[in-house]
Amino acid sequence: MSQPTLRVLYGSQTGTAQDTAQRIARQARRRQLQVQVSPLDSYNVANLISECLVVFVCATTGQGDPPDNMKNFWRFLFKKSLPAGSLSRLDCAILGLGDSSYPKFNFVAKKLHKRLLQLGASVLLPVGLADDQHDLGSDAVIDPWLTSFWGEAVTLYPTLANVTPLRDDEPLPPTYTFHFLDGVTEKTDDRLSLPTEQPIPSQSHPFPCRLVSNRRVTDVSHFQDVRHIEFDITGSNIEFAAGDVVMMHPRNSAEEVQQFCQLLRLDPDAKFRLRATDNAAVPARLPQPCTVRHLVESYLDINAVPRRSFFELLLTFATDELEHEKLMEFSSAEGQDELLSYCNRPRRTALEVLADFPHTTAELKVDSLLDLFPEIQPRSFSIASSLQAHANRLQILVAVVSYKTKIHKPRRGLCSTWLASLDPAQGEVYVPLWVKKGTMKFPKEKDTPVIMVGPGTGVAPFRSALQERVAQGKTANVLFFGCRSESKDFYFRSEWEDMTKAGHLTLFSAFSRDQEEKVYVQHRVKENAELLWDLIANKRACFYIAGNAKEMPASVCDALKEVFQQEGGMSAEEAEQMLTAMDRSGQFQSETWS
Ligand code: 2AM
Repeated sequence: MSQPTLRVLYGSQTGTAQDTAQRIARQARRRQLQVQVSPLDSYNVANLISECLVVFVCATTGQGDPPDNMKNFWRFLFKKSLPAGSLSRLDCAILGLGDSSYPKFNFVAKKLHKRLLQLGASVLLPVGLADDQHDLGSDAVIDPWLTSFWGEAVTLYPTLANVTPLRDDEPLPPTYTFHFLDGVTEKTDDRLSLPTEQPIPSQSHPFPCRLVSNRRVTDVSHFQDVRHIEFDITGSNIEFAAGDVVMMHPRNSAEEVQQFCQLLRLDPDAKFRLRATDNAAVPARLPQPCTVRHLVESYLDINAVPRRSFFELLLTFATDELEHEKLMEFSSAEGQDELLSYCNRPRRTALEVLADFPHTTAELKVDSLLDLFPEIQPRSFSIASSLQAHANRLQILVAVVSYKTKIHKPRRGLCSTWLASLDPAQGEVYVPLWVKKGTMKFPKEKDTPVIMVGPGTGVAPFRSALQERVAQGKTANVLFFGCRSESKDFYFRSEWEDMTKAGHLTLFSAFSRDQEEKVYVQHRVKENAELLWDLIANKRACFYIAGNAKEMPASVCDALKEVFQQEGGMSAEEAEQMLTAMDRSGQFQSETWS
């Protein structure tokens, strides 16, 4: 039998599944196997009928849903009209990436497995269930799974056994080549060009929205910088409702771009065109021609903690003996503990790693940049305003992330730090945006009350909901807000007070650090048991939680169950059942982030 073409299809939310898919593709190339990699939604599913060997790499999101870039594939695959034996020619393998701290661990991979079997595909080996909670990251599962996969592939295609795979430190041809221009002949426009007819903005067609204001809403003496940011969305076709989220790609800072270019001896103003060597598509997000500055600033994730595949590729450029030895270790299965201490624990960035390996970095070929660095992933923020209250405007509430790790340098969140740095007073600033439907839905019926628990920036979606509901004459609203201090981080205080005065809101606030004892939103929930029970049991109120405190959602749920027990005379078990039923029916909803 001749060699097959391996198809690696992935569904990735944060980039891990994409990185793993690319790692599998590199292993295939080392075996001189033809390979094509793509996100599931960019792949024509009808072609599955004629594929011979496919690896599916699928992440599962926190709620158990498939990632955004495989949603269309998912809908298609579960169509009832697909005949049972339609994939009987297909040999495939499924690798799931999940997190066992969520109840629906690797749900997507398991469900895909069942469905592929139903459709008649042969699944070569048990589904790989990689777990982000594992000490050594997902590699502890992925490595042995890949070994088994190649074993099965050789059994199926014995000619594969005749090929001696390239060694790990031998270079592979890059996916793209850079063709530098002389700079005079072609103009570049690194801003996104607007199509004449603007479609609904999406990841592939974001709309550059003008930044209107960027205001700190915490007292200067407060430990955290929190920003209330407003964009003008006039002419964008962007629409949204309460609970929706806005998406954007953050950018690396000018200093980091400069440092990167210095390390790699690149001219930031040089212009190039990108050509794909294989069947890869040139990333739509990169203008052609493009400057090196734009590539580094907007596309290459030089601030992320590099994954093992980064070291695997870096190794192929190492000529210095010491650096070669270290990179060899970081690329090996045995060296993963060491890599964890070097990279993951201190959250060392790819840029810092390059500086630690100066000889290898100097040898890096520009053509490999897109293989080496993952693409900057989009970030999402709950929308904090409503079009009914702020027409043509979209507002967000952003906590500027900053924390310390084992290495002395303070760490900053890429997107929030970049957003905080944007100053409309320094000239017009445009940020490409698009909007995604959120998971939280608010009741349509006028008389259904809502109870919202949103400490900190968790209040953002509830501000949007309140503005929308008040405009629609829905005035049965209860908000539990928590912050550290009444005088320092009580966001939107005057707005809540105005709504309360107008009879549109009942507000309960918990200031955790204004007194000796900590007071949290869950304490306020328990204190108001009678009111909450009446609203939930008699008036079918919907209950919402949003926020980023780790234990907060569970503590609020516990408080709510206590309310059910105390006021509804329920046993602990019955209270639990009631909350589960509310969750199923949508009467209880939560959206939490870390
Ligand atoms: P703290 O920082 O004083 O502990 C917004 O961040 C608010 O959420 C702060 O007042 C913070 O209090 C509080 N918070 C922290 N952990 C929490 C938890 N487990 N449950 C509820 N609120 C919490």
